[in-house]
Amino acid sequence: MSDYFWDNQIEYLRKTRELYYNDDYLEFLIDRVWKFTTPINIIDFGCGYGFLGLKLLPMLPAGSTYTGIDLGIELINRAKEIFQHTSFQTQFIQGDIGTMHVERKYDVAICHAFLLHMVEPEKTIKKMINSVCDQGKVICFEPHWISNMSNYFFDGIDQSQIIKLGILQKLYEEDFKRLGKSGNFGMQVPVILSKLGLTDVECRISDKVNFLDQNMQTTQIEQLYLSLREEGLGQQPGDRNEIIQSLINKGLTDDEACAQYDAELTFSKEFGNQSWLTYSLNMKISFGTVRLEGSSK
Ligand SMILES: C[S@@+](CC[C@H](N)C(=O)[O-])C[C@H]1O[C@@H](n2cnc3c(N)ncnc32)[C@H](O)[C@@H]1O
Repeated sequence: MSDYFWDNQIEYLRKTRELYYNDDYLEFLIDRVWKFTTPINIIDFGCGYGFLGLKLLPMLPAGSTYTGIDLGIELINRAKEIFQHTSFQTQFIQGDIGTMHVERKYDVAICHAFLLHMVEPEKTIKKMINSVCDQGKVICFEPHWISNMSNYFFDGIDQSQIIKLGILQKLYEEDFKRLGKSGNFGMQVPVILSKLGLTDVECRISDKVNFLDQNMQTTQIEQLYLSLREEGLGQQPGDRNEIIQSLINKGLTDDEACAQYDAELTFSKEFGNQSWLTYSLNMKISFGTVRLEGSSK
């Protein structure tokens, strides 16, 4: 049993990834936006159990390869286990991306929900750029928490009762100042890619809106409900005094901390598998092209 946080989050990762993208949108990106028409070699930074590989490889030209790097021993073992039952060419490397040397030999460097956990994400982006050959791409799928928090509709309840957008913005900004990591990093990535010299930089928003539709079959409702819960929706906030104190320590006023706690508590009490709810993650998908010095193209 590993002590590493992400090794103990495999179930969370597995249950929540289906909330993110519709396959047809990813196919659209591959075929129409990125125009991957010949086999490519991909490297996935912070690959987890290989979510992006599982999604993208079946859509990519046959012969494409996928290399995943992750710090989690159990995550890497799980990825190997999953892919050994497929015909895809894959390789998984366990290690710390911060200290690891990654060779420049890939066509595409990707990451998913990874840079937001990095204290110096720009350094990691540089490493991604340095792993890609001339004319290759860097593609980052990263969240923008404040926008996913504004993308709820919970039938029968005012959004402001359960999500305090103003307070959240302040909390996220304070967290960033304290920890150097940002759940809103997704919206910053295109700026960094362009500043670091990538060309043709663009950014898209993920397409999927999850709909907890009470007219679906019971099993579908249950599955989506569990995934939404796992994602953190309507989570029980814990001990009132402790949480309020920790919110005050993060920079909220007493009133704001109480309001935030009450909102989370209301959400946790109201949200159940009989709720009607829509929710969208609004991941930001930023990408650009690497052009090495002296490139003739
Ligand atoms: C939110 S998870 C995302 C996993 C996967 N990309 C996905 O979306 O399912 C973040 C991942 O980054 C990995 N990670 C964090 N810091 C790392 C580091 N320094 N080196 C390698 N992997 C790291 C974690 O182990 C974890 O698997």
